[in-house]
Amino acid sequence: MNGEKPMDKLEKRVKKLELLVTLGQKLSAERDFERLLRRIWMELTEVLDAERSSLFLLDEETGEIYSVIAQQEEQIRIPRGKGIVGNVAETGESLLIQDAYSDPRFNSDVDKKTGFTTKSILSVPLSNTRGVVLGVCQVLNRRDGKPFDLDDQLLLQALAGMAGTAIETLKLAKEQKQAAEAVIIALVTALEMRVPAEQMHSIEVRAYSRAIAKQLRLREHDVRRIEWAAALHDIGKLAVPDEILNKTEPLSEEELEIYKKHAEYTRDILSAMEFGGELSGVEDIAPYHHKKFGGGGYPVGPPHGPSTPLGSRIIAVADALWSQTNTRFGVSGQSLQQAVAYIEARASTDFDPLVVQALSAIAPQLEDLREAALIKNEQKQETV
Ligand SMILES: [Fe+2]
Ligand SMILES: [Fe+2]
Repeated sequence: MNGEKPMDKLEKRVKKLELLVTLGQKLSAERDFERLLRRIWMELTEVLDAERSSLFLLDEETGEIYSVIAQQEEQIRIPRGKGIVGNVAETGESLLIQDAYSDPRFNSDVDKKTGFTTKSILSVPLSNTRGVVLGVCQVLNRRDGKPFDLDDQLLLQALAGMAGTAIETLKLAKEQKQAAEAVIIALVTALEMRVPAEQMHSIEVRAYSRAIAKQLRLREHDVRRIEWAAALHDIGKLAVPDEILNKTEPLSEEELEIYKKHAEYTRDILSAMEFGGELSGVEDIAPYHHKKFGGGGYPVGPPHGPSTPLGSRIIAVADALWSQTNTRFGVSGQSLQQAVAYIEARASTDFDPLVVQALSAIAPQLEDLREAALIKNEQKQETV
């Protein structure tokens, strides 16, 4: 699209992801409010490779948005709803502006004062876990001279998701568990926004995995861990190029090899995060959802066949159920009934027969399960 080689783009994306992963750790470890804000602000510039960045918070008393940290010394105060930042705070919607001076909402006063020339603007809301706007993150001008694009927006939204969560966590002294959950939602949402065909993928795989785990009578604590692993199982796709994920024809051999790498990336990303509570151990489950019970699958190397964790074997079945019922890479989706039959025919070779048995037992409920997961997600979207 922009003449950049796919591998360069991939490398850049992996680098940015690494930054995000490290940032998630740093933010959740930070206990001092001022230092946390400074850290978020510094990361904005680095991750987005921007010339300028500003962090605004909402003054709950006056309803104004004020700059807490920015390159310029003077604090800026903007009424909610006014200008670009005020607009983002008011609507809770991001704004991606390629040419600032042609946008009537842009106020050039700061440029006039500082001598800086704003070209491209990316402004995203900083929200808490309940979707209440706490402030705004804004970056100006990409250092490479190009305007910000949708990839940058998704990245900044993921970053803002983490930042908003960290601020909230500190403000309310909530458990670290809640911060991690919001990070996951931000990351999974960022991933699925890039691939329209997979928008409900993690939601459905999570719901199916939970139902299978319950059917296998696992303890609630283990069920929850498997659920989180299911929500995160494809997070490594963040490092797979858009061109491959959004392809509507079968993948070439070379593309397939790149695609398969997502399982390794999932392992790398999750291993770099320090999860606690229900989330501890998700890195040992999520990456192995493409392993086959009879041996083989990917990523190569251990664990093999039946020694693959039970959670991974459950997600493998839930994932296959989704893949078989949805049209991907030029292959048409089938009915839930046909998908269950497909999986049953591969018990012991591809899938754990006990897990398949559990799936067969809940087969009559699958339609309702899918419906309920989608409704729950819609309600969640309304509050995010
Ligand atoms: Fe996968
Ligand atoms: Fe998947």
